[in-house]
Amino acid sequence: MIIAIDGTASSGKGSLAKNLSLSLNLHHLDSGLFYRVLAYQAIKMGIERKIDLIELSKKLSIKKIIKIKKLAGENLRSTLVSKKSSQIAPEKNIREALIKLQREYVNQFLISHDGVVIDGRDIGTIVFPDASFKFYLDADIKIRAERRTQQLIHLNYEVIYLDVLNDLICRDKRDKNRIEGPLKKAKDAFYIDTGNISEEIVLQKALNIIKSF
Ligand code: DC
Repeated sequence: MIIAIDGTASSGKGSLAKNLSLSLNLHHLDSGLFYRVLAYQAIKMGIERKIDLIELSKKLSIKKIIKIKKLAGENLRSTLVSKKSSQIAPEKNIREALIKLQREYVNQFLISHDGVVIDGRDIGTIVFPDASFKFYLDADIKIRAERRTQQLIHLNYEVIYLDVLNDLICRDKRDKNRIEGPLKKAKDAFYIDTGNISEEIVLQKALNIIKSF
């Protein structure tokens, strides 16, 4: 079983994916990690040109991604990496390379696990259009910006709410307006507004939907 969760930045996709995977005993894959790892490597290696970024994306493997994730730790969540990953994500060749790896990763897990919960922007629309369940999460941008500010402060980053808000506005624009794999709700996805409800209630809503089938 594949459960696809898409949505805007800081809408709670990651939390729902993690909570669903724990409740249903499924593996969780955060597809944003692939874009963040590539962005992190590009920053570290000083790679700026599109052609070199594409080359770097083609050289990535699941093994390398796991290794870089371990090395980078919480640096993958920095505002610099967030911005860079959002800037590189529209490139067709990069998306193709990273989607191929996401499918490979999920197919490996489907051999040994009952299923995978995967969160991102284009999972229900492009990466796994035949997923068993699809959810699309969103919330008012001010609520998302407040959440993201608190998360970053918790990680010891010095950030201010207005900068985070502006950053989210730009990321939403880039995610929704790009030609390749734009962020949009799949027709058969269940919409959940996470604005004024807790993580637990979001999980309960999703579980109720899954169990009703
Ligand atoms: O979910 P996230 O914030 O960790 O994602 C980081 C960036 O990667 C985000 O700006 C958009 C991009 N991304 C994407 O284009 N497609 C995905 N499936 C996941 C992430």
